[in-house]
Amino acid sequence: MRVGIIGAGNMGSAFARRLSAAGHDVVITNRDVEDARKVASAVGSKARAVPNEQLAENAEVVIAATPFPNQVDALRASGPLDGKTIVEISNPMTEDMSGLAVGLTTSAAEEVANAIRGARVVKAFNTVFAQVLGSPPPSGGAAKVQVFYAGDDDEAKRTVRSLIESMGFEAVDAGPLSNARYLEPLGMLNIYFGYVAKMGTDIAPAVRKVSQPEMGARADQTAREPARAERTTSRDPEDRPSAG
Ligand SMILES: NC(=O)c1ccc[n+]([C@@H]2O[C@H](COP(=O)([O-])OP(=O)(O)OC[C@H]3O[C@@H](n4cnc5c(N)ncnc54)[C@H](OP(=O)(O)O)[C@@H]3O)[C@@H](O)[C@H]2O)c1
Repeated sequence: MRVGIIGAGNMGSAFARRLSAAGHDVVITNRDVEDARKVASAVGSKARAVPNEQLAENAEVVIAATPFPNQVDALRASGPLDGKTIVEISNPMTEDMSGLAVGLTTSAAEEVANAIRGARVVKAFNTVFAQVLGSPPPSGGAAKVQVFYAGDDDEAKRTVRSLIESMGFEAVDAGPLSNARYLEPLGMLNIYFGYVAKMGTDIAPAVRKVSQPEMGARADQTAREPARAERTTSRDPEDRPSAG
């Protein structure tokens, strides 16, 4: 796929690396195109830098990797976006980073969709730290990092899903674009875990099925509990057989 990236910072450069490693053709731009050139030359032959106004014409999908306040201007400066799929990745934080600047009745992704009429906006990747995005996919059967995506246009969502999967992530359909109102607070929670709770930026939130076999195993274990307790010397009341 031909993928355009606006922004050559943490996320933009991580996208450039991982997308080109997955075999995509990457074009990247930045306010100062020289910064985009540095990223492109570090990534290799699958990536090239272009001036802002030439980005959209060279890309099927455009990833907006700038801070939220700059998204609309950056997208408008990238050329005609009618019919294009835009991946909106921001966590729209207040300037002092104490919380979200938009929410409850709207989201960054919806604001961008309202401003860039005719484009098909999909929210994705806002719960993935740049460190995770820029790392190689897990190997040896390890669980893939999940990427939640939300949008209103089915075809655009299919495109973004296949892009996510091609990069070695697990794509999780998070519903319509208005669900960006939930994804953006989840992104903030991820930032809390990473920085405030000091878990580090090599983490990502995930939704996991609690499968029936696992639940069955727990039920079996509970049924065997009295017999196991008779053999144990534990004084833990949880381990004693019921008196009744
Ligand atoms: N960092 C993360 O782990 C992470 C995770 C999930 C989501 N996000 C979201 O991803 C987005 C980018 O974050 P980041 O950490 O990559 O930020 P960053 O390192 O500050 O990079 C932002 C880039 O956007 C460029 N830019 C700003 N305005 C522009 C414009 N009008 N036209 C073209 N380029 C412009 C900046 O260029 P200059 O250098 O000229 O300012 C900079 O290269 C944010 O919305 C953030 O909320 C970040």
